[in-house]
Amino acid sequence: MSNESLANLLKEERRFEPPADLAAAANVTAEAYEQAKADRLGFWAEQARQLTWATEPTQTLDWSNPPFAKWFADGKLNVAYNCVDRHVEAGNGDRVAIHFEGEPGDTRAITYAELQREISKAANALTELGVQAGDRVAIYLPMIPEAVFAMLACARIGAPHSLVFGGFSADALATRIEDADARVIITSDGGYRRGKPSALKPAVDEALTRPGTENVRNVLVVRRTGEDTAWTDGRDVWWHELVDRQSDQHTPEAFDAEHPLFILYTSGTTGKPKGILHTTGGYLTQVAYTHRAVFDLKPETDVYWCTADVGWVTGHSYIVYGPLANGATEVIYEGTPDTPHQGRWWEIVQKYGVTLLYTAPTAIRACMKWGDDIPAKFDLSSLRILGSVGEPINPEAWIWYRKHIGGDRTPVVDTWWQTETGAIMISPLPGVTATKPGSAQIPLPGISATVVDDEAKEVPNGGGGYLVLTEPWPSMLRTIWGDDQRYLDTYWSRFENRYFAGDGAKKDDDGDIWLLGRVDDVMLVSGHNISTTEVESALVSHPKVAEAAVVGATDPQTTQAIVAFVIVRGNVDSEEEGLVDELRAHVAKHLGPIAKPKRILPVAELPKTRSGKIMRRLLRDVAENRALGDVTTLTDSSVMDLIQTRLPGAA
Ligand code: WT7
Repeated sequence: MSNESLANLLKEERRFEPPADLAAAANVTAEAYEQAKADRLGFWAEQARQLTWATEPTQTLDWSNPPFAKWFADGKLNVAYNCVDRHVEAGNGDRVAIHFEGEPGDTRAITYAELQREISKAANALTELGVQAGDRVAIYLPMIPEAVFAMLACARIGAPHSLVFGGFSADALATRIEDADARVIITSDGGYRRGKPSALKPAVDEALTRPGTENVRNVLVVRRTGEDTAWTDGRDVWWHELVDRQSDQHTPEAFDAEHPLFILYTSGTTGKPKGILHTTGGYLTQVAYTHRAVFDLKPETDVYWCTADVGWVTGHSYIVYGPLANGATEVIYEGTPDTPHQGRWWEIVQKYGVTLLYTAPTAIRACMKWGDDIPAKFDLSSLRILGSVGEPINPEAWIWYRKHIGGDRTPVVDTWWQTETGAIMISPLPGVTATKPGSAQIPLPGISATVVDDEAKEVPNGGGGYLVLTEPWPSMLRTIWGDDQRYLDTYWSRFENRYFAGDGAKKDDDGDIWLLGRVDDVMLVSGHNISTTEVESALVSHPKVAEAAVVGATDPQTTQAIVAFVIVRGNVDSEEEGLVDELRAHVAKHLGPIAKPKRILPVAELPKTRSGKIMRRLLRDVAENRALGDVTTLTDSSVMDLIQTRLPGAA
């Protein structure tokens, strides 16, 4: 990628000031940036003191063996104690921690006192199964309260967990069990998806027939659907039989701040999945701080809802560890947004009076496609802050989110981070920042990030290149599980002393950061580097388009030619005459003729990973008339057949 790469094509001029009342009462003000700038480590030490330590740390950062960081290394604490017991001890045992909403409509309100009893019983049960501090436990569960109990029970006894998303196959599960050398698996008979029970346990049974999984001694099974389940005597144990008979008292043990908390595998588009390792003290410090700062959490009055699955890092950091460390009341929903109807999410917001909502651009664009009239049927006036995470949010989707969900009133915080960073790194602060649709804007207090060119030189305002993190941060990954060399090669070899995030980015004239997608997704067209994200945003800014995916296909004249796949909005006919020309002209007007797609193909669906990221690699295969690569991480592989039939001349 050249220096004039990722040219500043898209101009977004809209600005939204923080609401005055929010700014006046915000948890974090502009002063935090000053304070952290003056003394970065002192700032993080102060955030660490918000946790309850069994032994207070006297050290902050140990960077004597870079890039292997230690934070608060001489401190000791128990994560589960911090997320649960201390709130009960402070007199908040009756506060609801979790409002659970099952897909079929069953509900359960779990207070902090109840949560303490549940995780104590689960911790005692794991101990009875022989799980000791340091042993790995795999968790393969739907979005039910037991997923949270299981994670916190592991944390309580110092057994690192490895969650595997319930949508993953037996193969993916087996690879992860083997890599982490898990001893126990916690799963369920199944969960509810799209109105039906969907089994999980068969995938565990199949995974455990694969070589490399022999060390699994027990499978602990939650009964959720009540469907018939195959059983291996001596190995399989029902949760309700083992856990329910345990004592609800358990004394948490304090562990070193650098004790492993969890391993989480990044889906990764190529190669073997990477087991990202997170530890205890620094991780909890940063997830708790960022949750308080970015969502301005007021634990007595807010109702927070993060729609992610606990199987992703967003679920770890912003459903489990951050919100519970802060004593939040939160919603957990088991199912899909359109079951039994496309207004289900908004019905949940209305029902629980959700004030803080955190979701992903892919979900926002799906709602745009379903139509404005659906959220309009519900009372969403309780909402006060909206968050976005997972990929760049197109300015039009940002505006739609603010207008149709946030009543044109709520700040939208676009939060950039990764499984590897553990916590939010770049984001506006809702009571401080004048927001810009489509930009994550500025590193949080205590975080150092910038954009560099090929030669590792920081680009001036207006320039583009690669996003790097220039100083270690408390919740950073400590390594790739079992593979220090891969940790060095993947993140620390591209630029000296800088963490390479793998994302393209630019700085605008104010120095604000715009994320442009994975570096692999940048196109080279007639000598110009053009970001897929920017062309997609230009397409989505057309009123007839709900979603777009853009790829560069090899082209004899221009090196790469831009090919766009678009989903039209609910009220538009995708066969409409002149639609394609209209969209091409629209992109040319917004970004310039160089960015005009050579081909635009209206499609019904786009190929997405289970975490909602568009798999451009597969679309490139289609655009270049190649056999499709690996489709196993797709949510629905039949979408590719549909797309291929749309392409004239395609195989
Ligand atoms: C990649 C990390 C972080 C939790 C969920 C994803 C992309 C994430 C944003 C954002 C632009 C974003 C990046 C990043 N990404 N948030 N606000 N703006 N891009 O975690 O699966 O580890 O993916 O997601 O490309 O590198 P992940």
